[in-house]
Amino acid sequence: MASKPILITGATGKTGSRVMGRLKSLGFDARSGSRKAPVPFDWDNPATWEKALRGIGAVYVNYHPDYAFPGAIANLTHFTRVAASCGIERLVILTGRGEHHAQLGEAVVAKSGLDYTIVRSAWFAQNFSEGALWEPVMEGVVPMPGANLAEPIIDIDDLADVIAVSLTGEGHSGQTYDCTGPRLLDFAEVADILSGAMGRRVNYLPISFDDFHAELAATSGTVFADIVTGIARETFDGRNAVLGDGVMRALGRQPRDFTEFAQSAALAGKWANAA
Ligand SMILES: NC(=O)c1ccc[n+]([C@@H]2O[C@H](COP(=O)([O-])OP(=O)(O)OC[C@H]3O[C@@H](n4cnc5c(N)ncnc54)[C@H](OP(=O)(O)O)[C@@H]3O)[C@@H](O)[C@H]2O)c1
Repeated sequence: MASKPILITGATGKTGSRVMGRLKSLGFDARSGSRKAPVPFDWDNPATWEKALRGIGAVYVNYHPDYAFPGAIANLTHFTRVAASCGIERLVILTGRGEHHAQLGEAVVAKSGLDYTIVRSAWFAQNFSEGALWEPVMEGVVPMPGANLAEPIIDIDDLADVIAVSLTGEGHSGQTYDCTGPRLLDFAEVADILSGAMGRRVNYLPISFDDFHAELAATSGTVFADIVTGIARETFDGRNAVLGDGVMRALGRQPRDFTEFAQSAALAGKWANAA
């Protein structure tokens, strides 16, 4: 496995860039599955897949934007067939916990006939430092529905470690790693921890799902807002308020706490010049 190159889809994104960094520093031949790579990879253009998969041994499957978007499951099914025809030996797929469409994606990979590992993830801590909530945090608010939500937010540096060992190590085939942080947090606690790390106040702003939808629709259009609000409604019902043991099972250690994440993100300047 290690002798063949590894393709990292979403290689320029939050998890993919971390997985690339880990594999390269360990001496693996990690190839960028990006639309801008020398051999481009585009989920929306199946004509790019075969070329990007040629000579590859294992693939990190990071689907963009999400399995809940129209055509995603059919696209992934097609992709696994192309991967099998290209002689790919192992797929490591990232999915979201408790999402119906993500589970359909997992089933596609599990039935593909290829070696696979499912890395099923809780909410990313980096949503607040690199993702959709970075801008609100810079303005001192966390505007989210789900006031009573308890989510075991995970630091994606842990997730990237799990993905990297699953791509390169033995004993991960057929495993589903339920990856979470070490404790449940609600948004008010998240805001308090961010405030402590940043040295300035961040407040949780409870909003309704309708307001959440309206905000998304204004910036990204109704279709996007419908789908993302649908995911939030589906997963913000308490189903994910339970800790997973994926990090411990894959890595033999506990995941990092959100406080530690927030302190190191602040030190790294992720919220420098916040309002
Ligand atoms: N955020 C969460 O809390 C959370 C939790 C659980 C699971 N997830 C799942 O995690 C995944 C997102 O992972 P991430 O945050 O690491 O990604 P990300 O930071 O959103 O990066 C996505 C990358 O996808 C690439 N991309 C965009 N359109 C593409 C296309 N048509 N074809 C190929 N690549 C494309 C972009 O790279 P280029 O521009 O270079 O092509 C981009 O760098 C999603 O599937 C989501 O469901 C997220």
